[in-house]
Amino acid sequence: MTKSFVETNPDANTSDPPTDSKAEVPEQPDPSKIEVVSVTDEDLPIVETPNTLNVSPLGSIDADPQSENEPAKPEESKPPAAPSPTMPITKVQPFMNEDDLEKSWKSRLLAHRLELLIFSCVILAVILILGIGLGVGLSCAGKFRCGSSSQCISASAQCDGEVHCDNGDDELGCVRLSGGDSVLQVQRGGVWRTVCSEGWNNVLGASACRQLGYSRYVESFFIFQTSIEQDLQLHLVSINLSQSEITKLQNATASSKSQCSSGMVTTLKCLECGSRPRYNTRIVGGNISRLGQFPWQVSLHFSSEHLCGGSIITSRWILTAAHCVFGFADPSMWAVHVGLTEQPVHGAQSLSVEHIVYHARYRPKGLDYDIALMKLSTPLVFNGLVEPICLPNHGEEFAEGTMCWISGWGATEDEGETSVVLRSAMVPLLSTKTCNQPEVYQGFISAWMICAGYLEGGTDSCQGDSGGPLACEDSSVMKLVGATSWGIGCAMRNKPGVYTRITRSLSWIRQQMEREESRTSSTQSSDN
Ligand code: ARG
Repeated sequence: MTKSFVETNPDANTSDPPTDSKAEVPEQPDPSKIEVVSVTDEDLPIVETPNTLNVSPLGSIDADPQSENEPAKPEESKPPAAPSPTMPITKVQPFMNEDDLEKSWKSRLLAHRLELLIFSCVILAVILILGIGLGVGLSCAGKFRCGSSSQCISASAQCDGEVHCDNGDDELGCVRLSGGDSVLQVQRGGVWRTVCSEGWNNVLGASACRQLGYSRYVESFFIFQTSIEQDLQLHLVSINLSQSEITKLQNATASSKSQCSSGMVTTLKCLECGSRPRYNTRIVGGNISRLGQFPWQVSLHFSSEHLCGGSIITSRWILTAAHCVFGFADPSMWAVHVGLTEQPVHGAQSLSVEHIVYHARYRPKGLDYDIALMKLSTPLVFNGLVEPICLPNHGEEFAEGTMCWISGWGATEDEGETSVVLRSAMVPLLSTKTCNQPEVYQGFISAWMICAGYLEGGTDSCQGDSGGPLACEDSSVMKLVGATSWGIGCAMRNKPGVYTRITRSLSWIRQQMEREESRTSSTQSSDN
């Protein structure tokens, strides 16, 4: 085997000392004697080399003063300097045969790989430990998370009558109305229990309505425990008022039961809603709406222009879509027009907005959590032309095919102008399964959405209708089932309207209203 290399003085057995070395050179070899030759392993002298590599300190070698002024010569043209006994020697690896070289490289490569493997394993383990630790910390596993903060409290501390979270979130959303009969349920330790009639009174009723975000209480009445939905009969509780007044139901004494001793459970009404006292159903007006036909429909004006629709849900609250207010959450820029059918608005009641809140998880690029609430600066006066729509109850299902109403001042065709008159149409509800079909919305429909419309197209909501109601009649009252959210085009084949599902949004709605009610009532009492 032969190798080509630049031969230096073999006897010295050193590599070239730095060419810029100023070391004294006793005898310079003739540059003409340097030549490229071919040698074999046998030609090489056997050299004893110590195991340690002695590298000369560069600092001990002075720079050649010549090189500062002269242009650098190519390396090959310089005569190799002869070693001097005083000069530090840079020792290099002696020549090896190919097998040794290969073995050495292989073992070095193996060692290197092993090091790399161990290093990555350690890094991976550290990331895993940190990740799990962080994940457990952030997920609040088995605990209650205080809103969207990182604070966690024990699950049993939720709804126990004492505030544990800094933001008070653990005592919000502890009451709900469920099923077709508006049965009252309270939550304790993560379990929802239906309230028995025994021990119940109007003081508790008023307190429950406040917790549901209403400022009023209409009535409580009792119905047979056996007449309500099966799942609502599983966990029961009776509540007894020990003090004359309580702030929250969870401050009263509660005893869990498997049977109500009276055999009756409590239903609650906080608001007269969903009726149209000034709407004469004998008038058929095509798709142009009559005054009083949708008394909960509002027109939301931003900078004096109709931007979106909305629905009156209490005398102080308007429900709309988050995409209507995202980036426009300055209440002073908005006006809420009520009791009207024609735009531009003259004579209709216009109210200013005190507070706007949209779902914290809403993102403009996403389609989920498209829900917002506007709190009016002054309460509405209901008069038949202005009325609230009922919210559905927890667990209420609206079957596919149920015919519901959509209404608004939105465009009458895709990319068209907004309508001057309030228009409305009847559309059937579609199941999520139908709406998620490949030819429809291909799995884009989440639990926060409900579809309504015709797969053949033709009737739909459109731009400018957003935030407005999808209202369905249920036991002779109108209930808000959806808020107009999105769609591809308008009234296109296989592209029905998509609405924010109100039954999915109930606890969010209640919490916002309750938080605001307790905030204002506490500031009111501290003002007094
Ligand atoms: N996003 C629209 C708005 O802001 C509503 C679109 C409804 N589209 C539909 N095809 N249903 O007004």
